Amino acid sequence: MTETLESIAQAMVAPGKGILAADESSGTIKKRFDAIKVESTEENRRDYRELLFRTEEAMKNHISGVILYDETIRQKAKDGTPLVDLIKKAGSIPGIKVDAGAKPMPGFPGETVTEGLDGLRERLAEYYDLGARFAKWRAVIDIASGIPTTACIEANAEALARYAALCQEAKIVPIVEPEVLMDGDHTADRCFEVTEATLRAVFNRLALHNVNLEGTILKPNMIVSGKKCPKQAGVEEVAEKTIACFKRVVPAAIPGIVFLSGGQSDEDATAHLNAMNAIGGFPWKMSFSYGRALQAAPQKAWAGKPENVPAAQQAFLHRAKMNGLAALGDWESKLEKAA
Ligand code: 13P
Repeated sequence: MTETLESIAQAMVAPGKGILAADESSGTIKKRFDAIKVESTEENRRDYRELLFRTEEAMKNHISGVILYDETIRQKAKDGTPLVDLIKKAGSIPGIKVDAGAKPMPGFPGETVTEGLDGLRERLAEYYDLGARFAKWRAVIDIASGIPTTACIEANAEALARYAALCQEAKIVPIVEPEVLMDGDHTADRCFEVTEATLRAVFNRLALHNVNLEGTILKPNMIVSGKKCPKQAGVEEVAEKTIACFKRVVPAAIPGIVFLSGGQSDEDATAHLNAMNAIGGFPWKMSFSYGRALQAAPQKAWAGKPENVPAAQQAFLHRAKMNGLAALGDWESKLEKAA
């Protein structure tokens, strides 16, 4: 079959599968390794990611694609096999984070705009040759008193659209990720309002830049209460509000929505996704593109020790399986207890 943007996008949201976000930048992976008291060396980062990609049952059955970081897409496993080939051998698609991070937005205290457009065309061509068939760009929208501003939302939406257009020119499916953060004490309704405004701006800009929606995947936050909000929305409320928000602003031509976990607990991230799929009645696939909610458990089990690799792989398989079931609306909390 000829590979097209549409066929890749469809494969990324194949039934019961989702994406492993393993694209932590050097700074972020150091934070994760600090928490398990592992030194963040190039070799340790390789060993850790190799153990994930060699978890065959998880990769084959539940992981449609893996988002890599620049260092990882160039690394080789201990036996010399490129890590990209491990992913492909498991029937999963390699992807790449291409943004250069969220930087303070001049004139707008407390807000950021994501950089990385300069030279992106050339970088995408190289990543394609290295095996990447999709990419990721994350914009960050914070909620606090007086923010986000329209200027911040629009600047980030414009950058996302220019990134997406460049990806499609390079035959790479763009994952468009506008993340409204769950930090702060705002209510779920405020999250709804800001997410709605953000997604509206993003889809306006994607249209302006002639981005092919059938070959685009959206990676958003769910509609949740701020972490410090005294009143936390429950699972059903999160599911209902998220679906209602997206029905207003996400075109039906988008093949799939893959959520970020954003600091939700492992089980919340699974329960929320499951509840949405159990309700159903929307035109897109809804699945996961989790970083922390797939990796916190294996990182803890591994703790940098070779003898813990099987336990870490078991922990990764478990989360991948639970989220795979949630992508079908077939997860039940008793499956967690039985593990
Ligand atoms: P989390 O699921 O840990 O939020 O990470 C997903 C991601 O890729 C953020 O850009």
